[in-house]
Amino acid sequence: MISIPGLALLALAFQPLAAAAQEAPVPLQRIAFGSCANQNLDQPVWDAVVAAKPDLFVFVGDNIYADTEDMALMKAKYAKLGAKPGYRKLKQACPVLATWDDHDFGVNDGGAWYPKREESAKIMLDFFEVPAGSSQRGHAGIYGAHVYGPPGKRVQLILLDTRTFKSRPLKDTRSKEEIKKRNLVGWYVPNPDPATTLLGAEQWAWLEQQLRQPAELRIIASSIQVIADEKGMESWGNFPHERQRLYRTIAEARAEGVLFISGDVHFSEVSRSADGPYPLTDFTSSGLTNSNPGWASAVNSHRVSATAYAEPTFGLIEIDWSAASPQVSLQARGVKGQTAFDVKLDLAALRPAAWPEE
Ligand SMILES: [Fe+2]
Repeated sequence: MISIPGLALLALAFQPLAAAAQEAPVPLQRIAFGSCANQNLDQPVWDAVVAAKPDLFVFVGDNIYADTEDMALMKAKYAKLGAKPGYRKLKQACPVLATWDDHDFGVNDGGAWYPKREESAKIMLDFFEVPAGSSQRGHAGIYGAHVYGPPGKRVQLILLDTRTFKSRPLKDTRSKEEIKKRNLVGWYVPNPDPATTLLGAEQWAWLEQQLRQPAELRIIASSIQVIADEKGMESWGNFPHERQRLYRTIAEARAEGVLFISGDVHFSEVSRSADGPYPLTDFTSSGLTNSNPGWASAVNSHRVSATAYAEPTFGLIEIDWSAASPQVSLQARGVKGQTAFDVKLDLAALRPAAWPEE
């Protein structure tokens, strides 16, 4: 067992690493991320993640499968992740940041009704050695943000909490045959009630401020998919007024350079929407340990990646700042480091031709 002074020392030891990445004038060039890591399975993917030499790794949720209200059990499940040799190598190689999804929050498809959300948040933030004073602490939920790199090449990483404040989604009550006929996975349908929420009032007010901070590329990590919305899986599409608000908030803040990253669905794909102030892209990477080809084959008319990749995977975002217009490459990588798809983005395209007159 580690004593409390021991834990404090560990936190202190980690702080310079995270702070160094945050304050270094060197721009971020390689950001790896992933989701859905079952602590009861082998996790060979970490060797490929470390070999890709990322500047950062971002967990976007289902980082463990806790699914419990027993906090001692939840800690024990985090300890299993912490003991994975590959994960330990990752921690030596680069800073690790995290937001959460339902299973690590504590309950499948969970939300604001989960009674242990505060306790679970503390366990999660402590496990990932989030320092005291971090933007992820000091409020309900685990949302937070960081900015890396020098002016002109700044990457803002916004970690959303889509669980602590989430209202109940609406169940799909259609027959199994009807759902199958439409090629849906089929659990939920859009909830038109404007009183329902995903982010909650405080997180919305915080996000509005964050999107006004200067940055060239803004990576917004949402555990659930932002753009793909037809399958009936959990997604922002289940709360259409909240997604409209997200796009409107980006427009009102005149926030350029937005790229969403997400997880949760057990396959990887890139989706694009024309409903924002400029084309918005969502890079979904899932899962680190296991995948679901059946869910991957369900409908997504927003998909722009060559495939929906349903093998254990991580996402790699490479940024070439040397081009006149920086180029961003969105790669689904397999456990051997192989590239399953690579979607290119021109950073200059992540803004409208002109913002409307104020
Ligand atoms: Fe999930």
